[in-house]
Amino acid sequence: MTLLLAHISDLHLDEGTRATERATHALNHLTQLSRRPDALLVTGDVAHTPATARYHQAAHLLDLPFPVLTCPGSHDDRAALRQHLLGLAPTTGPLNQLHHLNGTAVLVCDSTTPGREGGHLRPSTLMWINHTLQELPENTPALLALHHPPARVHHPLADHLRLDNAQDLAGLLRAHPRVAGILVGHAHTGGATTFAGRPLLLAPALIRSAPMPWDSEHTAAMDQPPGVAFHLLDDEHRLTTHFRALV
Ligand SMILES: [Fe+2]
Ligand SMILES: [Fe+2]
Repeated sequence: MTLLLAHISDLHLDEGTRATERATHALNHLTQLSRRPDALLVTGDVAHTPATARYHQAAHLLDLPFPVLTCPGSHDDRAALRQHLLGLAPTTGPLNQLHHLNGTAVLVCDSTTPGREGGHLRPSTLMWINHTLQELPENTPALLALHHPPARVHHPLADHLRLDNAQDLAGLLRAHPRVAGILVGHAHTGGATTFAGRPLLLAPALIRSAPMPWDSEHTAAMDQPPGVAFHLLDDEHRLTTHFRALV
């Protein structure tokens, strides 16, 4: 059966109305689809500043009729996200979670480091990814989700703040051909490239698009609508992604 995974990122909830309105618009779109997504993936930067109230707001917005898979982003606080959004104990270690959806394993990983904007996979997280993939039943496809892109995406800021030990992840993935794709946020632009021979797919940001090097003041990214990605994984473990701007 084909897996339909909706993917949003970078809500940056703050005390203003813009972030709330754009998130609400995107989530209303998802709940009105004729085929309900099997799950929604949220690749971090849920809160712009990690106040408790922002995660309570996120919990309210993300109370949806399908599972929601969330990893922390560079603006998030792991412990607060755990406690107030996911209802877990507010521990401070990396938040790595395995979800099974329609026969697919989705590994939702923590690439954040408290106090730093750039991405890094701690040794314990790399070990967790490796062990989790090793333990999956044969013929189970997998998707890997994290906040930071592990490869250059040709945006100066995103490239500066990408995963700084991507080679460790690439080395690990060589042993795991079952990983059909890597799903990320953080770059604030919908996009597609490859990493370690797999599709690397970037969800658009809800709060605002990053001005790309080829943009001008007349194509100001601030005015671009929020967007969502739809990932489909079929019976042949082939990944197809559609990007949709929500005007
Ligand atoms: Fe962000
Ligand atoms: Fe970020």
